[in-house]
Amino acid sequence: MNILIIYGTTEGQTRKVAGFLQNEFENQKHHVTLSDANGTPPAPAGFDVVILGASMHMERYQEPVLYYIREHHAALSKTVSAFYSVSLTAASDDEASWHELKHITERFLIAGHWHPALVEYVAGALRFTKYDFFKKFILRQIAKRADPAAAAGDDKEYTNWDALKAFCTKIEQLAAAAPVTVRPEESDFEAVC
Ligand SMILES: Cc1cc2nc3c(=O)[nH]c(=O)nc-3n(C[C@H](O)[C@H](O)[C@H](O)COP(=O)(O)O)c2cc1C
Repeated sequence: MNILIIYGTTEGQTRKVAGFLQNEFENQKHHVTLSDANGTPPAPAGFDVVILGASMHMERYQEPVLYYIREHHAALSKTVSAFYSVSLTAASDDEASWHELKHITERFLIAGHWHPALVEYVAGALRFTKYDFFKKFILRQIAKRADPAAAAGDDKEYTNWDALKAFCTKIEQLAAAAPVTVRPEESDFEAVC
C-alpha cells in the first residue's frame, strides 16, 4: 500500500506519533510518505490511505491541517482516510473533558467537510522542561484535570503505543476492504474517454 501521513505539531509529539505509524506500516512492507502540514504536503491522489494528525492547543488544532483538509476534502473522501488527534485530554478519564474534546474534533472535521473512516484520540505529552512561563501556566491548569499528579511540573509522555499499533491494523483492514486506488494517470484517462 502507498500511505500518506501528514501531521501538524507544535512541540513534536504528533510528529513522533507519525514516525511511529510510519515505522509500523513500513514493517508491514507498505510505502509511507511523511509530510509536515507546515511544508508542502502532497495531494491525496495516488495514495491508498491518507492519515492526518494534529494536536490540540488552547482547544484548537493546527490551522495548516485544516487548510489541507479544506483544499483536498473531495479527494480525501475518495480514499481510505483517518484522523488522529493528540491532546492531554485524551490522557484523562474526565467525562466532561472527553465530551468537549470530541465536540471540538467534530467541529474541526465539519469545518473541513471531511468524514474520515477512523478517528483516533491519542494521549500526548507534557514537556514542562521545554515550555516558557506562559505555557507552563496553561499546562498546569490543563494537567490538573488530566493528571493532577503531573501538575507539579514533570515531563511525562502518555501516548499508548499499543493502541496505535491497533489503529494501524484497523487502517490496514479498511484499506483491504476498499476498492483499488485509481492512480492520477488512470483517472485522467477516464476523464477524456
Ligand atoms: C500552550 C498549550 C496549550 C494546550 N492546550 C490544550 C488543550 O486545550 N487541550 C488539551 O487536551 N491539550 C492541550 N495541550 C496539550 C497538548 O495537546 C499536548 O502537549 C500534545 O502532546 C502536544 O502535541 P504536539 O507536541 O504535537 O504539539 C496544550 C499544550 C500546550 C503547550
